[in-house]
Amino acid sequence: MDATAIVLAAGAGTRMKSKHAKVAHKILGKPMVCWVVDAALAAGCNRVVVVVGNRSDEVRALIAAAYDGTSCAGTVECVEQTERLGTAHAVRVALEATGIDAGPVVVLNGDLPLIGADTIRAFAGTVEGGANAGAVLTFTPPDPFGYGRVELAADGSVNRIIEQKDCTPEQAAELLECNAGCYAFDGALLAAHIGEVGNDNAQGEYYLPDMVEILKGHGESVVISHCEDYRDGLGVNSRAQLAELACVARERINARHLAAGVTMWDPAQVWIGPDVEIAPDVELLPQVILMGATRIGEDSVVGPNSRLTDTMVGTGCVVDETVAVEAQIDDGATCGPRAYLRPAAHLCEGAKAGTHVEIKKSTVGRGSKVPHLSYVGDATIGEGVNLGAGTITCNYDGAKKWPTTIGDGAFVGSSTMLVAPVNVGAGCVIGAGSVITEDVSAGALGLGRARQTEIPGWADAHKKTK
Ligand code: UD1
Ligand code: CA
Repeated sequence: MDATAIVLAAGAGTRMKSKHAKVAHKILGKPMVCWVVDAALAAGCNRVVVVVGNRSDEVRALIAAAYDGTSCAGTVECVEQTERLGTAHAVRVALEATGIDAGPVVVLNGDLPLIGADTIRAFAGTVEGGANAGAVLTFTPPDPFGYGRVELAADGSVNRIIEQKDCTPEQAAELLECNAGCYAFDGALLAAHIGEVGNDNAQGEYYLPDMVEILKGHGESVVISHCEDYRDGLGVNSRAQLAELACVARERINARHLAAGVTMWDPAQVWIGPDVEIAPDVELLPQVILMGATRIGEDSVVGPNSRLTDTMVGTGCVVDETVAVEAQIDDGATCGPRAYLRPAAHLCEGAKAGTHVEIKKSTVGRGSKVPHLSYVGDATIGEGVNLGAGTITCNYDGAKKWPTTIGDGAFVGSSTMLVAPVNVGAGCVIGAGSVITEDVSAGALGLGRARQTEIPGWADAHKKTK
């Protein structure tokens, strides 16, 4: 679609009482502004211009991290609004910086995270080919306080929008239809008339909603489109609204997965990010948080009390009380209860990371087991290996990290310290309680501990002296 989206993200967000930009606050693990940009891209907008200003370094950084130019359908760029003089001023800055003066232009408040791609697409359509000069998304929230109010003419068309702070008490009480902060404009008319917006109002700001009256004054048609589900139009100005919208997002995402064949014992206790993929017949137990680009394969059971971020889980896995970040759990692997898989932890098919086991940047080969109380870091473990309880790879010498390799079929006795760099050959047996500082050849017994001694009768004699 040959449409531009301008996302307004320069405001101060004072009501959030935060050191972060308002639009950087996350809903289900994703910054608010990215929800809006994603919706614009999904709608087919081929150019997205984000207006940044307040804490612009932070917003620029998260935009750069999320849209690297290769992975998304359109281009996403930032434009600086150095002085925040209002939403119309922000649009003007964007138009001047980009030279956009034609085609459908959709303007979206950056604090409107639940706006849908379908709505944006439909909106761009209303101004395409000069059918209308503008369109405004309206809604009727249970509490309209704070929103711009839509004043309708006798024929039901929009007259103008009056900000809450400019409303008389009567207008505030009577005008219940609100402006959601999603607009579409004919780009040529927008560019031609944006300079006519004044700031003679309660806040001394250039209000974008004033474009309605201005375009109508030029004899142009401006339409309103009412969204049926008022929750689509809710904006975030406070932490309470952020929490409220996170719940709405959670309910919608969970409903989608339930409909697609995912079991949840209690959907109210499952938090799934918007980009997570879950196969049918997955079972999610209470207190599960799945974030980022996490994927869960068929017949896997996750939870209770598990938090997976950017983690790939294969089919038929059991992930019990586990925290995993950028980890990979292949088909049939199991982890937990109380496992911690850190970035680049890879459990191959049928492998196990058991109770109180931490794994970092290591591969645990097919069918290998790390069942109890272990730390495995910077290690490559072959197939069919068993690490006894309490085995630890001592990968850090205080200055550098060193690797450990353990060959196929090795058996490492409990409470062994593998002091890296060290290689344990295939099929080795390491005696329990060893401190292994040198390589052990394939098939050998490795022992690194004091030899046991026995003094006959010592204990009895000792007792008698007391
Ligand atoms: C705005 C609308 C109001 C609408 C409501 C919907 C105006 C004047 N009012 O009010 O009619 O009901 O959204 O939620 O537009 N921003 C900039 N630069 C600025 C000022 C704001 O980029 O100079 C951005 C903010 O970061 C924010 C968005 O524009 O993402 C809206 O600004 P905000 O101050 O939240 O406007 P509201 O008072 O909520
Ligand atoms: Ca707002």
